[in-house]
Amino acid sequence: MNSLIAVGSIAYDTLETPFGRRDRALGGSAVHFALAANLFTDVGVVGVVGDDFDGEPVLAERGIDTSGIQVVAGGATFAWEGRYGFDLNVAETLDTRLGVFEQFDPQLSAEQAKAPVLFLGNIVPDLQRSVRKQSQAGFVALDSMNLWIEIAKDSLIGAIGEVDCVILNDGEARQLTGESTLAKAARAISAHGPRIVVIKRGEYGAALFVDGAFFGVPGYPLEEVFDPTGAGDSFAGGFVGYLAATGQTEPDIAHLKRAVAYGSIVASFNVEEFGTERVQRLTRDEVETRVGEFHAMTSFDLG
Ligand SMILES: Nc1ncnc2c1ncn2[C@@H]1O[C@H](COP(=O)(O)OP(=O)(O)OP(=O)(O)O)[C@@H](O)[C@H]1O
Ligand SMILES: [Mg+2]
Repeated sequence: MNSLIAVGSIAYDTLETPFGRRDRALGGSAVHFALAANLFTDVGVVGVVGDDFDGEPVLAERGIDTSGIQVVAGGATFAWEGRYGFDLNVAETLDTRLGVFEQFDPQLSAEQAKAPVLFLGNIVPDLQRSVRKQSQAGFVALDSMNLWIEIAKDSLIGAIGEVDCVILNDGEARQLTGESTLAKAARAISAHGPRIVVIKRGEYGAALFVDGAFFGVPGYPLEEVFDPTGAGDSFAGGFVGYLAATGQTEPDIAHLKRAVAYGSIVASFNVEEFGTERVQRLTRDEVETRVGEFHAMTSFDLG
């Protein structure tokens, strides 16, 4: 049995940044998440693709369980096309083709329902709720995006109320709550139910709010960033993957802080190359080395 199940999009991404371009690169929230989480624990992906999909071997080679990927004959895999300018924090969507993703109705097998940890990647909030209901997981984390806050806010708030951990970026946290400071936004999100709120801040890092306590890290200082696509999902994969490996369903603060560091470091590798290219060949040793540097650059003594 997998210790972690991830539900989300599986996509072909056409990406353009000031540093280059890739056509139909493997992407999607479940893919970026699973490649990251797989560095820490065994993960299974639940998603849907068309019979044009040829990315399965990339996941299987890494030991990711792909048996939950449904292939729809005659259908097309979800395809996204986006462009970034010099401000890599802002993506401009040029084209979205939902393909088989439009009819996605994720169903967990009896085995997948028993996995102790569940990640609800960025999909329609009602589908996140449906998967949550099917699962017996002791720890559930959720990600979302601005689109669902705009068009399905009540349902997203319902979904948030049914999970243990919410992972959003700063813009989404502000938009969802109408609060301008992250501390108030996190408190408002937590008031819906989740004990743990993580707010990602792109190159500026990430913040953790749990049990009234706060923890923050900067972004790992990279000199070159090629493509930010999937940063949020690889952060979530490192964060949730690390927690799943601890076996705790009510993670304590020490583990949560380490999970934030692991999430940040895996995401920092992700943005150094296009799409999944870097995380696909990332090793746990490389992660540990960079986490060690990150620890040294983020701690100080009081003299
Ligand atoms: N330029 C960067 N340098 C270092 N780390 C980065 C950079 N950009 C992102 N990260 C890391 O990735 C994490 C998540 O990124 P971000 O805040 O962009 O999430 P997101 O907006 O959900 O991303 P996505 O576009 O994938 O949905 C950050 O908290 C940070 O740790
Ligand atoms: Mg995101």
